[in-house]
Amino acid sequence: MINKYQETAAYLSQYVEAPIRWGIILGTGLGSLTEKIDIRHRIPYSQIPHFPVSTVEGHSGELVFGYLGGHYVMALNGRFHYYEGYGMDQVTFPVRVMKFLGIERMIVSNAAGGVNPEHEIGDIMLISDHINMIPEHPLRGRNLDELGPRFVDMKDCYNPAMRALAHKIADDAGYKVCEGVYLALQGPTFETQAEYMMISRVGGDAVGMSTVPEVIVARHMGIEVFGVSVITDLGLPGKMVNVSHEEVQEIGRKVTPRVIHIVSELVRLWED
Ligand code: HPA
Repeated sequence: MINKYQETAAYLSQYVEAPIRWGIILGTGLGSLTEKIDIRHRIPYSQIPHFPVSTVEGHSGELVFGYLGGHYVMALNGRFHYYEGYGMDQVTFPVRVMKFLGIERMIVSNAAGGVNPEHEIGDIMLISDHINMIPEHPLRGRNLDELGPRFVDMKDCYNPAMRALAHKIADDAGYKVCEGVYLALQGPTFETQAEYMMISRVGGDAVGMSTVPEVIVARHMGIEVFGVSVITDLGLPGKMVNVSHEEVQEIGRKVTPRVIHIVSELVRLWED
């Protein structure tokens, strides 16, 4: 695998015009975040050696290099979900490659279902922690000792100082964001009412089908992580509404300007 990461990174290095410390993974409906990036290069996944190709609607599948908040960044517009049938090696492949390109900090975003009674549709939730209930672990198998340890410490998996800064960014701009635990399930079904209840009882605030594998692999390599969920539907009794993939995308588009604001300000204000 390491050879593949190196080959892909070697191919992409032609687009790295300046030191690159931030990698961004854009979730469902949040692809327009790239509009805020002063784009220098767009590379369709299909052109990138060894890259899987994304299939879900709303994920256009391209890698973008450019300036955000004054820093050169790379952004993955479209991710690979386990439920699509990709293996964990494929789901997390871009994160490994990012590390080989010099990334030290990763921002992940997603759409999620809220199960915290305080949640409203359209809330922005900073991910404070996660519960991994996807049935396959991305680090299962022989450990790549060159990249990270066998047993990865998961405390403060989501960088507390980045979260604090994001709260300040939102406060200063006059809007609120909440914080909570993201619970990852395999999907692709949305949850039953009983499952939403279970998620709430085991300590989840929001549920989704992505993000956690990429975060685990990033932490394996010592990358600092900032995660944000957009609450696109509610799973609690009395609050539950039926959702379609189109609605999830639509809500994502509505609150995206604030998510964009948080992400671009975080990159701009974060001190090296
Ligand atoms: N469940 C799982 N994944 C999701 C949801 C949900 O309710 N909403 C958006 N992604």
